[in-house]
Amino acid sequence: MAKLIDGKLISKQIKDELKVEAAKLKEAGREVTLAVIQVGNDPASTVYVGNKKKACDYIGIRSLAYELPESTTQEELLKLVEELNDRDDVDGILVQLPLPSHIDEDTVIRTISPKKDVDGFHPQSVGALSIGQKGFVSCTPAGIIELLKRSDVDIEGKECVIIGRSNIVGKPMALLMLRENATVTICHSRTKNLKEVAKRADILIVAIGKPEFVTSEYVKEGAVVIDVGIHRCDNGKLCGDVLFSDVEPIASAITPVPGGVGPMTIAMLMHNCIDAPNIRQD
Ligand code: GUN
Repeated sequence: MAKLIDGKLISKQIKDELKVEAAKLKEAGREVTLAVIQVGNDPASTVYVGNKKKACDYIGIRSLAYELPESTTQEELLKLVEELNDRDDVDGILVQLPLPSHIDEDTVIRTISPKKDVDGFHPQSVGALSIGQKGFVSCTPAGIIELLKRSDVDIEGKECVIIGRSNIVGKPMALLMLRENATVTICHSRTKNLKEVAKRADILIVAIGKPEFVTSEYVKEGAVVIDVGIHRCDNGKLCGDVLFSDVEPIASAITPVPGGVGPMTIAMLMHNCIDAPNIRQD
């Protein structure tokens, strides 16, 4: 029986700690402010943006909502981002992705000031992470590090295998695990003998984007398994990239879906917002 790594509980602990920090900043005359921009009305994005606003309210972060129509041009969006970059009372800027296809996401991400890039997606934030300098860290991988540390999982010297090489999860995850002195392997769609490589892992992080792809054949007895995926499965229930019922009996610890990695992403976004006034000072 694996220990369940409870992301819901740990994210609540983090948000409660941040609430205290936000109150201290407020007392010092600094109300932390996050600007959230949504273009169009993709239903999933509306839910994510709503959850981010709720988390801000809970912690005591002021949120400014910009709900722009689908027809917004790239120029109009860039102009808004630049205005927010220039505003002293705005600490963080988040442009909800995906954007409509007529807008180039990379251009928008590059326009957000690295000092307000609370998503950690700007090339300067990614570059800073890769050479161990100060900057915002992408929220999902930062949340996984917190999950591991707060669940007393030792990282140093451990074999960590990451399945998935996306810019948002796989690559920054590898850099963070390296920073914690793990031995890191990144696997992807062209990896040969994926099962054998994954089986080397003491800590297996799965961000492959395929429902219930990872079975017990990929997992070493006693491994810690972190599931980044979230899908609506054929039976209508939410499931991850890991076949939980098959892997749980052999893992030493595992994240459930839902209630594992998911809640940590917003908690770390809130952490980045509270940290933003520090990062701006440099
Ligand atoms: N869309 C889905 N997840 C995210 C996220 O973490 N940040 C942004 N900006 N958009 C998203």
